[in-house]
Amino acid sequence: MSLDRVRGVNELLPEDRQGEVMELKSMLPTFESRKLYLESYGCAMNYSDSEIVASILAGVGFTTTNDPKQADVILLNTCAIRDNAESRIWARLHDFKAAKKTNPGLIVGVLGCMAERLKSELLEKQKIVDIVAGPDAYRDLPNLIERVEGGQKAVNVLLSREETYADISPVRLDSNGVSAFISIMRGCDNMCSFCVVPFTRGRERSRDPHSIVEEVKMMSDQGYKEVTLLGQNVDSYKWGTDTSPKIHFAELLEKVAAVDKNIRVRFSTSHPKDMSDDVIYVMAAHENICNYIHLPIQSGSSVVLERMNRGYTREWYMQRVESIRKIIPGCGISSDIITGFCGETEEDHQETLSLMKWARYDFSYMFKYSERPGTFAERKYKDDVAEEIKGRRLQEVIQQQAISSHESNKADLNTIQKVLVEGISKRSENHVSGRSDHNKVVVFPRGNFVKGDLVDVLITGCTPATLLGEATINS
Ligand code: 5AD
Ligand code: SF4
Repeated sequence: MSLDRVRGVNELLPEDRQGEVMELKSMLPTFESRKLYLESYGCAMNYSDSEIVASILAGVGFTTTNDPKQADVILLNTCAIRDNAESRIWARLHDFKAAKKTNPGLIVGVLGCMAERLKSELLEKQKIVDIVAGPDAYRDLPNLIERVEGGQKAVNVLLSREETYADISPVRLDSNGVSAFISIMRGCDNMCSFCVVPFTRGRERSRDPHSIVEEVKMMSDQGYKEVTLLGQNVDSYKWGTDTSPKIHFAELLEKVAAVDKNIRVRFSTSHPKDMSDDVIYVMAAHENICNYIHLPIQSGSSVVLERMNRGYTREWYMQRVESIRKIIPGCGISSDIITGFCGETEEDHQETLSLMKWARYDFSYMFKYSERPGTFAERKYKDDVAEEIKGRRLQEVIQQQAISSHESNKADLNTIQKVLVEGISKRSENHVSGRSDHNKVVVFPRGNFVKGDLVDVLITGCTPATLLGEATINS
């Protein structure tokens, strides 16, 4: 283990606790020159967790590889949010089971949201993996790997009320060196009736703000230009004891924005029931906080929202959007939408379409409802919207979003957008691609621009999904 690694870990802790990490590390097994292959599925939080896993295993000697054939240990960080996510992962696990035939020493493990739900299926019934580790058990991975090497199966799916991995300095995987995710909390207490996350990721807990600010400082020192603060519901971020002042998300955002004015700050996900005007005012007051909010509506019908246990009505949601647009004119807004939730009528669906028209989202993630075992909806409601109807409604929602996205892009024509360059465009070597303040992809001629440059770009054209432009200054 390199000393730098230990130093990196220690820096995130308050001074009086910095010795603890050294003591803990000396008790772990070591795996010098062993190779780890990590594959991640699902949300940004999972990708961020994989960086924590890589850090924990780097601490005991592992190096990461992008080639599963080179790996001694293969870990899949899984997603259980919809049935089709799980099916893809099962198929991948069968590939790796086949690979074990030619490489009997290969260790395969499942991490993340499928771990808790499917531990006995994975380990005992299908005997498809050696390790199953839930989202709060990653510190235990070195021990679990050691146990497998000793000939046993290894499982830890205990959920914690405290674990935030606050002291772990993530190893940035697949990083462009420009933007990074930073987890500020874990778990979820909202219990939306369709959602499996509160069961797979456990109770909500917030991470020590000191360690978050220190991580942002580290990113700044390493030359990063953008951080995205992650939580299932960032608006319920809370830190403090009875004797120290409480810090809510608005204050945390302010602290993060103050670290380095040249670092852009984004965050996700906001919850309409909890998003306060305080947060919007902090965004408005800080040039380096991006004017973009991901504010999932899920359904435009108050009756469906009630059944989803979302904690707000259509009218409340509209009032939140009006507040954003009043305080930050032109703020980018995106959404998540589910079609065909239990009991959704044609009228409810029309309300979703009309809400979308009204909200003029820049972007949406859209899904057919997928029943998840153990959720309130699975236990109490009937999944009674036929598959073809769910599909047809999803197509209508996608079409409505395509219209709004195109309108939103056309409204940007002839404006100047500040674009953070992320790299060479996938479509053309002669162009670079980056994101605007509103999180839109912008492509423009490469010139001498390199990733990490913040460039004023005049928007001269667009497609429904992308803005095209020209830099207003020479590189
Ligand atoms: N079926 C379909 N979509 C779902 N989501 C969460 N659970 C389900 C489900 N059971 C969607 C929601 C959420 C996003 C991350 O995934 O829209 O905001
Ligand atoms: Fe799931 Fe709702 Fe929590 Fe989001 S807020 S993770 S949809 S329970």
